[in-house]
Amino acid sequence: MGNKREHWGTQIGFILATAGSAVGLGNIWKFPYITGKNGGAAFVFIYIACIILIGLPIMLAEIVLGRRTQKNPVGAYRALEKPTHSFIHYHRHYANKEHPSKPYFPWFLAGGLGVLSGFIILSFYSVVAGWTLAYIIEAAAGTFTKFESVEAAGNYFGQFASTPLMPIIYHALFMFASIGIVIKGIQNGIERWNKILMPALFGILILLLIRGLTLPGAHEGIAFFLKPDFSLVTWKTVLAALGQAFFTLSLGMGAIMTYGSYLSKQENIPHATFMVVLFDTLVALIAGLAIFTSVFAMKLSPSAGPGLVFHTLPAVFNQMPGGYIFGILFFVLLFIAALTSSVSILETIVAYFVDEKNWTRGKAVLTVGAVIFITGIPASLSFGPLAEFKIAMGKNYFDFLDHLVSNYFLPLGGLLIALFVGWSWGVKPAIEEIRQGNPTFPTANIWSFMIRFICPLAVAIILFAKFIGIEF
Ligand code: PHE
Repeated sequence: MGNKREHWGTQIGFILATAGSAVGLGNIWKFPYITGKNGGAAFVFIYIACIILIGLPIMLAEIVLGRRTQKNPVGAYRALEKPTHSFIHYHRHYANKEHPSKPYFPWFLAGGLGVLSGFIILSFYSVVAGWTLAYIIEAAAGTFTKFESVEAAGNYFGQFASTPLMPIIYHALFMFASIGIVIKGIQNGIERWNKILMPALFGILILLLIRGLTLPGAHEGIAFFLKPDFSLVTWKTVLAALGQAFFTLSLGMGAIMTYGSYLSKQENIPHATFMVVLFDTLVALIAGLAIFTSVFAMKLSPSAGPGLVFHTLPAVFNQMPGGYIFGILFFVLLFIAALTSSVSILETIVAYFVDEKNWTRGKAVLTVGAVIFITGIPASLSFGPLAEFKIAMGKNYFDFLDHLVSNYFLPLGGLLIALFVGWSWGVKPAIEEIRQGNPTFPTANIWSFMIRFICPLAVAIILFAKFIGIEF
C-alpha cells in the first residue's frame, strides 16, 4: 500500500504522549490506595525499586521493538521471528512452492495477547473514567457539600454507580472523547492533545499539592507517605509493588511498543524512556502526597481501598478551605489522566487493524470504539444489576476482567517481551537499533543483563505466586 507510516512531529511529542499513556488511573486512583493499604512509605520504596529494576528495562525493550519494526504488536513480533527448532511451532504460508515453509515459534501470539488485553482493559477502564467525568459535574454542581461524612459520600457514590443508565452514558461520552482524538491520527490527534493535556495535568497536580501541604496537620500525611516502617513489609507488599509497576507504566500489552512504532530513527530511546519513567513516578508520588496530606489533615483514614478517591476525597473536599474549586480540579485531573491512557490503548488496537487487516484508520477507530463501548456495558452494570452475577473465580464481570488482565495477561506479556528481546531476537540487534539515535548508549551492558536475567526471573516469580494463589 502507498500509505506511509505517520511519525511523531517531535521527540517531546513522543515523550508527552508516552507519559500520557503511563500516567493514568493507575497513578492517581490505584497507587494511593495500594500505598494506603500496604503501610505507606515502605511500600513506596519497594515500588520505586521495581520501577527502576524491571519497569525501565522492559519499557526500553518495548520501544525498541516498535521502532525497529514500525509495526503494531502482532506485526512487530512477526517481522522479527526466526525459524525455530522448538516443538511448539507454526508454518508460514509461502505462495511460491519452491520456497518450502519453515517452522516458526508462534511469537506473534504474544502480540495477539497484547491486543486482546487492550480490548479487555479499555472495557472496564472507560467505565471508571466515565465516573470521573460524572464527578467533575457533581463537584461543579456542589454535590460534595452534602457529604458530612465519608459514609454519606460512599452511599452517594454507591447509588450513582449502581443505577443502570447514567454510568453507561458517561462511559459512552468518555469513549467518544477517546475516539475523537485517535481518529485524527498521530500528529493531529494524539500528539497535539497530549501536548495540551499533559502540561495541564501537571499544573493541576502542583496546585493540589500546594493545597495539601498548606493544610494544618499535613505533616502526619507526609510522615505516613515518606517515613518507612519496614516491619510492615511482607512478601505480599513486594508482589503488589511489582504488579503496580507494570500497570502504571502501561507495560506488557504493546501500547508502548505501538507508540514506539511511530518514532523515527534519529530519536534517542534511552533518554525518552528515562523521561517517561521519571515523569510517571513523579506524578504518582505527588498525587500520593497531595492526597495523603489532605486525608490526614481532615483526620480520615488512608486505607479506604478502591473507594479512597470516590468516597474519602469528596468528603475531604467538603471540609477543606477552597474545597469546591479543588474538588473540581481533582476530578478534571483524574479525567485527563484516564483520557490520555485510554487513547494509547485504543491506538494499539487500531494499529493492529490498520497494519494487519488494511482497514482505514476511520473504520478501525469507529469499529473498535463501538465494540469497546458494548463490552463495557456489563462492566458498568457490575456495580448495579450484575453485581452478584459471577462470571468465574467468584468474581463479577468487572472484577473478573480487571483481575485477569492486571494479574495475568500484563505480566505474561511483559515476560514474553523480555524473553523475546533477550533471547530470541537478541540484545545485539536491539542495541544496534538504539545506537542509531544514541551512538554511545553507555548503559547497554546493564540493560542487556536486566532484560535477559532479572526481568524474566522477577516477572516469572510474580506470575507463579499469583498462580498458586498468593493474595495481592
Ligand atoms: N498506565 C495506565 C495507568 O496507569 C494504564 C494502562 C495500562 C494504559 C496498560 C495502557 C496500557 O492508568
